[in-house]
Amino acid sequence: MRPAFVFGTRPEIIKLAPVIRAFEERGVRPLLIHTGQHYDYEMSRVFLEELELDGIDYHLEVGSGTQAEQTGTAMIKIEKVLVNEKPDVVLVQGDTNTVLAGALAAVKLRIPVAHVEAGLRSFDRTMPEEINRILADHASEVLFAPTEEARRNLEREGITEGVYVVGNTIVDAVLQNSEIAERKSDVLERFGLKPKEYILITAHRAENTDSMENLTKLIEILEALPMRAIYPMHPRTRNRLKEFGLWERAGSIKNLIITQPLGYLDFLKLEKNAFVVMTDSGGIQEESIILGVPCLTLRYNTERPETVKAGGNVLVGLEKNRAIHYLQKLIEEREFYRRMAGAPNPFGDGKAGERIVEILLKLHDRGELRVRSSRFI
Ligand code: UD1
Ligand code: UDP
Repeated sequence: MRPAFVFGTRPEIIKLAPVIRAFEERGVRPLLIHTGQHYDYEMSRVFLEELELDGIDYHLEVGSGTQAEQTGTAMIKIEKVLVNEKPDVVLVQGDTNTVLAGALAAVKLRIPVAHVEAGLRSFDRTMPEEINRILADHASEVLFAPTEEARRNLEREGITEGVYVVGNTIVDAVLQNSEIAERKSDVLERFGLKPKEYILITAHRAENTDSMENLTKLIEILEALPMRAIYPMHPRTRNRLKEFGLWERAGSIKNLIITQPLGYLDFLKLEKNAFVVMTDSGGIQEESIILGVPCLTLRYNTERPETVKAGGNVLVGLEKNRAIHYLQKLIEEREFYRRMAGAPNPFGDGKAGERIVEILLKLHDRGELRVRSSRFI
């Protein structure tokens, strides 16, 4: 069996590492293809090093661009590799442009696609990620849904064959790394932070950063925070703040540390010890409920509704009053804090990677790992 992994961004590296590891434990050495969608050291290489993914076979160096430039360039380069290497299956994870490019390039070569984290839907088709998710799911033969809710989303779109509910590999990643992070990272000392006495912030989504209006709303929230805060900033946000002339204003907010993006071990330690997390990230909404830290999501919708239903996440959008209301409530009402922090993890037991590998090996042995001519028979 010869699986190929196509990935290119920070969250894909983190969430695929447990699957790659599970293949290696079964004696299978997968082909690793990095598109280079993320290329800064702190957005890519730091994770390859920390998660010991040293054997990347192809660095495609696609880089940044418009949606079509990035997706198109990645498709062209991925296709060349797949034609040469002829893997038995292509694995992609999540909803980035890399995922769409990998899925389309593979299925058109009649190489079956396995989509890890299939079936997520924000029901907001203005997000590039939503388009990527839908198209990647419909190009895939094997769909690894993290939850029942994700499986139902696929069913609603007529996808019932080849769907397996396996949990989310982010639980594997957190369980495999949080103890190491606790031991190895000195991030709290470096930034002079005390456990449960700071807010951890990340925001990078296109809808929050690409317009001056929304970026200004984000800054207004940061200016009103009632506690110390740290914001490891995605380069997209940093670039937009500079373009819109808002960089100085962000930098002068008292009690807010803006820093480069952090490696996974530092970030996990910061997350675990935060009083509350405020984010527009998908992976961080998941990690905070796994780590038992309340999460306020800086979005108006989420493709992780399980976190909201479980009680660990509240959508506050970019509404300053709503965000500050919930922060005050968390500070002042112990019982409310306890309930949010104690919300049950809906993403499984941390064995998703092993399950994915087990299923793919079985399908391969039975000769069932192939592109079906029709899904609806
Ligand atoms: C992408 C994903 C998003 C995911 C995020 C993870 C898409 C459509 N979006 O968004 O779903 O949440 O990755 O972090 O695929 N940049 C750098 N250095 C880098 C990478 C990016 O400076 O290493 C800057 C460039 O200015 C670039 C911008 O960030 O134009 C955006 O990068 P891009 O890869 O297009 O999308 P992300 O915002 O990272
Ligand atoms: N992360 C990290 N360092 C940071 C910010 C995030 O290691 O400075 C990790 C975080 O723990 C999570 C993942 O990156 O596992 C989330 O990635 P991101 O927010 O970029 O993407 P999304 O999940 O929104 O697609």
